[in-house]
Amino acid sequence: MTTSALSEIAAVGCPHSIDDVDLFGEGAQEHWYDAYPILLRDAPVCRLPGEGLSPQSDAFILSRYEDINRVVKDPVRFTPITTLMLEQLAAAETPPEEMDYINMMMVSMLTLRPTIELWRAHRKELTDPWVGPGAERHREMITQQVDHLIDLFPDEGELNFVQAFARPLTQRVMARVLGFPAEDIPQLAEWGEAQVMPFVYGKGHLNHLDQQQLQAQFAQLDGFKEYVQDTVKRKRTRPGEDMISFLTQVSFTPLDRKLTDLEINGIVYAMVLGGLETTQYALEQQAQLICDRPGMFAALKADPSLLRTFIEESLRLRAPTQGLSTRLTSQDEIFGDVEVPRGSVLHLRWAAANVDPAEFDDPMDLKLDRKASSRHLSFSAGPRVCPGAGISRLEQQVAWTRLLARLDSLSYGAENPFAHQPGIMLGTLELNLSLRKIA
Ligand code: HEM
Repeated sequence: MTTSALSEIAAVGCPHSIDDVDLFGEGAQEHWYDAYPILLRDAPVCRLPGEGLSPQSDAFILSRYEDINRVVKDPVRFTPITTLMLEQLAAAETPPEEMDYINMMMVSMLTLRPTIELWRAHRKELTDPWVGPGAERHREMITQQVDHLIDLFPDEGELNFVQAFARPLTQRVMARVLGFPAEDIPQLAEWGEAQVMPFVYGKGHLNHLDQQQLQAQFAQLDGFKEYVQDTVKRKRTRPGEDMISFLTQVSFTPLDRKLTDLEINGIVYAMVLGGLETTQYALEQQAQLICDRPGMFAALKADPSLLRTFIEESLRLRAPTQGLSTRLTSQDEIFGDVEVPRGSVLHLRWAAANVDPAEFDDPMDLKLDRKASSRHLSFSAGPRVCPGAGISRLEQQVAWTRLLARLDSLSYGAENPFAHQPGIMLGTLELNLSLRKIA
């Protein structure tokens, strides 16, 4: 998204009691971490009356680690909302690809992963080898991309870390993984921005875009489907060493057939949607966590084996995706002493669960010796856990390994507004850093 979105930030004030807590109003981002201890203490299961999928039903914000962990690990009792949407699409008379405002990801989910079993196979066979555990194959390529961007830094001075590093790195890596040429990155970045629009401009916990915004989103996405279709067609006949080429050749075991062009289009949509801003904000927040803590840069530089825990702790403390309304109760439930009727929407607030004192000692501290530090919920957990966690972690690991090796010093630049972008992701659009490269 663009810096003009910053002007939309108005004021949800700092909450002092549960009555002041508003996670979704304009400017709420500035106070999320003031709100979480209040929510966890006073309303860990917080009802949003009439904010379910219909005005007759409710939504509930879940904040406790234990509750969210239970929900994501039981897809039968807590149905993914996409499952319901897919059932509706399947029952409709119009084919989904001819419907208005249905993106290719949803269309491809209808045939490739309508059930949780197919979801698992989809991950294992189609995405794991490229962006999950198999992401390791990209280590050398990612290292080259990181070094190239550091080469462009001034030897000494200030730069906007988001524009100069975090954003171009994720764009370059995803383009290389998928097999798109570098010169198409500016166009791909525009399409990527259109895809994340609901998570930036969407209203309320369901990230709703109004009709005008939906039109703008789909207008901005114009050409993406055709662009991917052309690429898929080319790679089907002349496959290269990239993910799209692989998808054109692979046979998907549960369906015992190859993927159609449109199905591949949907997977590519999901990779671009999930693969850019999330990791960008993780990197940007990590830079802030380092600059905020005297001695942290030196400690990590002296012992890079601490990086693994640093990265997990930063993902825990600054979850890039703060929360998502992605599950429905398929029966009446009780969380603690709160009754949650069947058919309610659950807003899973990963970022609050990550600072739940019942799960994490000294939850607001970044501890480089925390045990089992990867148990945070920033990537969710269970069968629907983020399929891109592998490549995201690798990008962060390589980025900081090379930054620490090639920089002498790193601190905040003279001016930083620190204002967060609107929407559900935690990140600033600018981060001015002062640095010196090792000669
Ligand atoms: C720090 C970076 C990232 C964070 C914090 C993150 C977080 C998440 C979360 C919380 C979910 C929802 C899981 C659920 O509903 O239980 C998710 C889903 C997903 N993520 Fe990520 N993600 C990140 C990076 C990536 C990357 C790099 C990719 C792609 C390469 C990716 C692709 C996806 C996809 C395709 C889904 C599933 C969406 C769906 O079909 O429902 N993510 N992610």
